[in-house]
Amino acid sequence: MSILGADMHSHLIPGLDDGAKDIVASLDLIKGLMDLGYKKLITTPHILWDMYKNTPETILSGLERLRNAVQLEKMAIEIHAAAEYFLDDHVNELLNKKEPLLPLSGKMILVEFSMAFPSLSIKNILFDMAMQGYQPVLAHPERYVYLENTKSFYDELKGIGCLFQLNLLSLTGYYGRSTTELANYLIKKGYYDLAGTDLHNIQQLQRLHDSSLTNGMKKLLDSCSIINSQL
Ligand SMILES: [Fe+2]
Repeated sequence: MSILGADMHSHLIPGLDDGAKDIVASLDLIKGLMDLGYKKLITTPHILWDMYKNTPETILSGLERLRNAVQLEKMAIEIHAAAEYFLDDHVNELLNKKEPLLPLSGKMILVEFSMAFPSLSIKNILFDMAMQGYQPVLAHPERYVYLENTKSFYDELKGIGCLFQLNLLSLTGYYGRSTTELANYLIKKGYYDLAGTDLHNIQQLQRLHDSSLTNGMKKLLDSCSIINSQL
């Protein structure tokens, strides 16, 4: 993954979501990402109001703890934090109140929505985000397998300026065959702008060493303009 330089999607701050359980687990994951060749990490705790009530304060103070631990271990890696915003009523409220959102870089905001069923409000929220000058980055579009039969939704999202982020593990079959097929479809369309690990745990870290990734990454970089190195 050294060609990507930066990873921009992970769950490395302990205790904030379903990612690293404690600081020891965080450091193990960070060491693993360094071994894969990453030089910069932008970690993205969930903000999903029904389950993970994170705010810029909880995330940035968690980042501080993480940076201190990394420094104590003398690990040479740059770490930043943003968030993975689940598009729910809470995000709507943040936008209505014009509360500042945590960007990946510049005005880019990482977003996700339900993997179980389509929601009509997604496009409205993304439109409101764009109106406030943000650039939404849709996390793992290939994981919304219910879009298999309504792929034009992807065209619509690209049409309103949404960037797409591939989960690298989608190339390995980790999330199932439909997700891998959708990832290959979106690669062929040239729709991806970013690639991320979405790393939560050590099992996923091991899968990032899968040999199938080399070939998948080559296809990705041949067909899409990936901008991780510009973050
Ligand atoms: Fe994630």
